Amino acid sequence: MSRDQQLRRKAYEEIELNKDIVEQDPYRLKYHLMPPVGLLNDPNGFIQWDGNYHLFYQWMPFKTGHGAKFWGHYVSKDLVTWKHEEIALTPSEWFEKNGCYSGSAIGHNDELHLFYTGNVKDKEGNRETYQCLAVSGDGVNFDKKGPVIELPVGYTSHFRDPKVWEQDGRYFMVVGAQTSDLKGAVALFASEDLIDWEHLGMLAGGGKPPLNDFGYMFECPDLFSLDETDVLVFSPQGLKPEGMEYQNVYQSGYVIGTFEPVSGVFMHGEFEELDRGFDFYAPQTTEDEQGRRILFAWMSVPDQNEQDHPTIGHKWLHNMTIPRELRLTGGKVVQLPVQELESLRLGEAIEHKVVLNYENVKLKEVSGKAVELLLDNIQVSEGWFSITIGGAARIVYSKKQNLFSLERKSYVDGTVEKRQCYLDDLNSLRIFIDTSSIEVFINNGEETFTARFYPVPDDESIQFESLRNTSFNIKKWNLGNIIGE
Ligand code: FRU
Repeated sequence: MSRDQQLRRKAYEEIELNKDIVEQDPYRLKYHLMPPVGLLNDPNGFIQWDGNYHLFYQWMPFKTGHGAKFWGHYVSKDLVTWKHEEIALTPSEWFEKNGCYSGSAIGHNDELHLFYTGNVKDKEGNRETYQCLAVSGDGVNFDKKGPVIELPVGYTSHFRDPKVWEQDGRYFMVVGAQTSDLKGAVALFASEDLIDWEHLGMLAGGGKPPLNDFGYMFECPDLFSLDETDVLVFSPQGLKPEGMEYQNVYQSGYVIGTFEPVSGVFMHGEFEELDRGFDFYAPQTTEDEQGRRILFAWMSVPDQNEQDHPTIGHKWLHNMTIPRELRLTGGKVVQLPVQELESLRLGEAIEHKVVLNYENVKLKEVSGKAVELLLDNIQVSEGWFSITIGGAARIVYSKKQNLFSLERKSYVDGTVEKRQCYLDDLNSLRIFIDTSSIEVFINNGEETFTARFYPVPDDESIQFESLRNTSFNIKKWNLGNIIGE
């Protein structure tokens, strides 16, 4: 039996062995993508190809920790119902023996091409990195072509996460990198045929303006255009907290500017975080056939108390965000739940017109584990307004300071921790609650807050509290499950 077959067999055995314990976890989500067992991290190879959306993911089947990653594979027609496909990649070959790390997908000549990082460590722990290609005619079985890019000079072996796209008849690739003087950077490559790649130089970072001193490593770069403006998304490591910003262990965000494909030069502005919550990292986007730019992110952050999540007792760890459509509004990337998610709604909405004045209330039939809340026409007078979910997560808007907060009971020690940002005003809130996760879309996606949280499992309460006057209209839907066959 080949090494690849052995690894597949072992992974499938691991799924079988742990199926019951995983499924019995009261914190298992209903409408988010999760690993069948073990640890899931970055979204990879996100593409709509040959009629299906494909979402691959970084997967460690054998433990709830990081290690020699596989590529797991989900397929969907509509971004709502997903089928778990055969394992796409196992770390079976010499050039990827310590992990088929993150990467992307592109269609070419009726074949699906995956580019990913082959991670290799020697006995002393020294790292080697290879940007590899695997090709498939059916979108399920992949033929590994091996490395197509070796490490160029000027970078350390922290060089990974190729994202490929086509532009003006050429192929381009961005790779997350660390320069030899230990600065985070994005490297740029070009190719005519997806096989021979030329290193065009550094696209962003590397200690140069306008980012200057901006951390020691950039992971998971993604360059695309929105409304004729170019957006570079990446996940920098090594930023220090500044006021309300950069509160997580590592960040994810974007710069906007203009990419000149002939020269390979990208002129851009300042970095902006994509999400203000606790758990959001390594986002990846694709443009679908309708021309929408859609994003998935990993709902966690590396090295951020990963081993303290209670789901570990049930042999699984982490999940994806819901798919979000990106738009550019006033020079800012906004995120909206993809429209298809409306089909998760079970039955008619529960609706209330609510006026609160120094009150703490529950609203009739507004509770549940897997729900969507839509609050609009929100008017908060001078005081503050809050929503507490399952007694373990709370969003608060203070009118006086124009300050929005997401608080949660820490799953490490039970103390209250928070993430915050300023708003010009609070008009609407769309909130997706799923058992142990929350995603808040403020003012039509102008800001988002994403987090895991762990209420007492049977606490499905949602509580509304206001100091002084608050009024809003609310709709609430129960949401269904997303995993099909
Ligand atoms: C980001 C990341 C990537 C790497 C992958 C390994 O979370 O560290 O840079 O390719 O995870 O699983």
